[in-house]
Amino acid sequence: MWLKALHLIFMVTWFAGLFYLPRLFVYHAMSDDEISNERFKIMERKLYFGIMTPGAILTLIFGIWMLFDYAWDVYGASAWLHAKLALIVVLVVYHLWCGKLVRNFRDDRNQHGHVYYRWFNEFPVLVLVAIVILASVKPF
Ligand code: HEM
Repeated sequence: MWLKALHLIFMVTWFAGLFYLPRLFVYHAMSDDEISNERFKIMERKLYFGIMTPGAILTLIFGIWMLFDYAWDVYGASAWLHAKLALIVVLVVYHLWCGKLVRNFRDDRNQHGHVYYRWFNEFPVLVLVAIVILASVKPF
């Protein structure tokens, strides 16, 4: 239960960043002065490396720890767990993609407008809903 509590605390930390970073990209893509540009770069770097990435790593560590501790024995044959693990791979790819976008903004090489980032921002919502339903309802 302590592992699950820590897993969930860091999952919330991770998702705070997954929701807010693309929002920063929206405002960054709309900004056109150098002071805002430099300020967004700092906010994005600190959020990605200081909050989101540690949150992601600790969520994964405590999740994997639970698998070894008891969960694989209990749920290893259940389809919901396999579906959840597949969605986590997708989420990690999204996280790494966010890192690439942070680097593009840092180097003043952003290629997308604010509408692109508004849609990009919706994706983690869908993944969160799916994973939480799989992990807590365990529908199959
Ligand atoms: C490597 C990544 C992950 C692994 C191995 C993992 C594994 C686990 C395990 C074994 C449990 C305990 C299941 C139980 O005893 O009922 C759990 C619970 C949970 N996980 Fe993960 N998880 C991972 C990532 C995530 C992510 C990214 C999210 C959110 C998007 C998430 C959301 C949850 C939730 C909400 C629960 C609580 C379910 C409940 O007890 O109601 N997990 N996870």
